[in-house]
Parts: sequence; C-alpha cells; structure tokens
Amino acid sequence: MTKSLSRSKHGVRIAHTPSALKRTLAQWRARRDSVALIPTMGALHDGHFSLIRLAQRRADRVVVSIFVNPAQFAPHEDFKSYPRTFDSDAKALALLKTDLIWAPAVGTMYPPDFSTRIVPQGPALAGLEDASRPHFFAGVATVVGKLLIQCVPDIAVFGEKDFQQLKVVGRLARDLDLPTRIVGAKTVRETDGLALSSRNRYLSASERATAPALYRALAECAQQIAAGEPIAAVLDKGRAAVMAAGFALDYLEARHSETLGPVASLADGPIRLLIAARIGSTRLIDNVAV
Ligand code: PAJ
Repeated sequence: MTKSLSRSKHGVRIAHTPSALKRTLAQWRARRDSVALIPTMGALHDGHFSLIRLAQRRADRVVVSIFVNPAQFAPHEDFKSYPRTFDSDAKALALLKTDLIWAPAVGTMYPPDFSTRIVPQGPALAGLEDASRPHFFAGVATVVGKLLIQCVPDIAVFGEKDFQQLKVVGRLARDLDLPTRIVGAKTVRETDGLALSSRNRYLSASERATAPALYRALAECAQQIAAGEPIAAVLDKGRAAVMAAGFALDYLEARHSETLGPVASLADGPIRLLIAARIGSTRLIDNVAV
C-alpha cells in the first residue's frame, strides 16, 4: 500500500491521500503561512516551473498537484498515452524547493459512486476549445473545483498558455465564492516561439520544425491588427498562412480578452488572438495579446 505521506528520494514531500494533504495544510495554517496551489497533469517543463517561481514570490508555501484527469479527455484522446513522468517531476520539484506534491489516485478523486460535475458556461462556451472538445471544460472545472476545495489556497496559478481555461477557472472561483485568487502567468516559449507544452514531445523532427509557424502567424496578425488593419482580413491571411505551413486549423480567432466574446474592431478590445491547429496527430494551442 502507498504511504499517505511520503518523501521522494530527492526529498520533496508527497501527499497521496486527502487526510495527509489536510494534515500538512493544517500545520502551515497554524503558522499563518499563505498557500499557493499549482494544478498540473505532470510531465513538467519550464512553463510549469515558471508558475512555481511566480507562486513562490506570492505565497509562503507552494503545493503542486499532479493528476492526469481522466474527466477532461474524450474517449478518442490521449489519456492512456499522456506522458507520466512522476519521478523526474518529483526530482525537478525538489530542486525548485516545492513544499508539497499533491498526488491523488484516480479512485481518490473519482470513487466509483462519484456523481457530480461542474458544468461551466460563459467563457467555457466561447466556441474555441469547446467547439473541438465539448467534454473538456466540465472535466477541467470539476477537477479544479475539487482541488481548490481540497487545498483552499490563497492563490492558484494558471498559465495564459491555456487562455480559455484561465478564464473558465477565474469565473468558477468567482461564481462559487471560492476564497482563492486565480493568478495568470505568462506563456513560456522556446527560442523559436513555440509555446512549451507536454504534448510537444509527440512532434516528429519535421513537425517540430514546422510548429513555430503557429506563433509566427499569431504575432504577425497581432501586429497588423494593432496597426489598424481590419480584423477579419488579417485573420483570413493568418489562417491561410497556418494551413500553407501544413497545419489542419481548428480555429484562429480574435476575442475580447476578458469575456472571450467576438470583437469587430480594435475599439471592442482588449483583444486576444487564439489559435488551435493539428500537425500530424498532435493538436497545439497558443494565444497572444494584441
Ligand atoms: P497542464 O497541461 O499540466 O498545465 C498545468 C498548468 O501549466 C496550466 O495552468 C497551464 O496553462 C500551464 N502551462 C502549460 N504550458 C505552459 C507554458 N508554456 N507557459 C506557461 N504556463 C504553461 O492545464 C492543465 O494541466 C489541466 O487542464 C489542469 C488545469 C491541471 C486540470 O487538470
């Protein structure tokens, strides 16, 4: 049997059960330490690490949850093959001096009689990720709701990389009166512009060489829109460029940065450009501010 509270061989504390998590949090709360939570699905990279560093600047204690959440994967998606690299994740988190890893089992998060889901609306129905992945945000909202209730952190940090998710979680916390402030963190990129993602490891060498075309298209569109060119025409050119590079495009859209509602001109802003496209069998998403 797994011990409820253990230490990785590199020395980071790991809670495997809700009671072990509660005990550790209670010790910190007794000392009036503030707590930050960073929900992840593991396969950690520099994008995740930047969230941890931000959290360490804002709170006394940082909890990183690692849980590959089956509820946000459709049956045809990559739940089974999603990279699981717990040992190297724990090693990296120890080096970063993370205070605690919360690593629940699937049966702990979703016991057999689990019967409740949080089904978000508003930004979750913007016609972006939800159009291709209709199951996705109920899965995310349910697990993030559970994690926020389990940890009751002062802040929780989410990446702008998953911009619609950041907006959905912000709404969730406000709508359900959760006492946690949701903090957004800038997207970390490779030097050629490709946003870091756990799924980048699926790319073949030639797909990896093509992948930065997504960010290039976003950056060019943002520059042209900021210069006053008509949004619809700019996006049409951007879509053509992404498809010409070899992507199957799900969407390239300009939206209001807060509501994710449609925008017709710069005056309707602040504007965010969001894109999702597939190269081979890998689906990539990205976004930039105008
Ligand atoms: P995951 O893809 O592991 O991402 C965890 C957090 O890291 C998210 O907030 C995501 O936006 C952020 N992140 C990923 N790549 C980033 C990058 N290049 N720069 C900055 N931040 C980045 O997103 C999820 O997991 C799940 O949906 C989760 C919220 C954990 C719910 O299961």
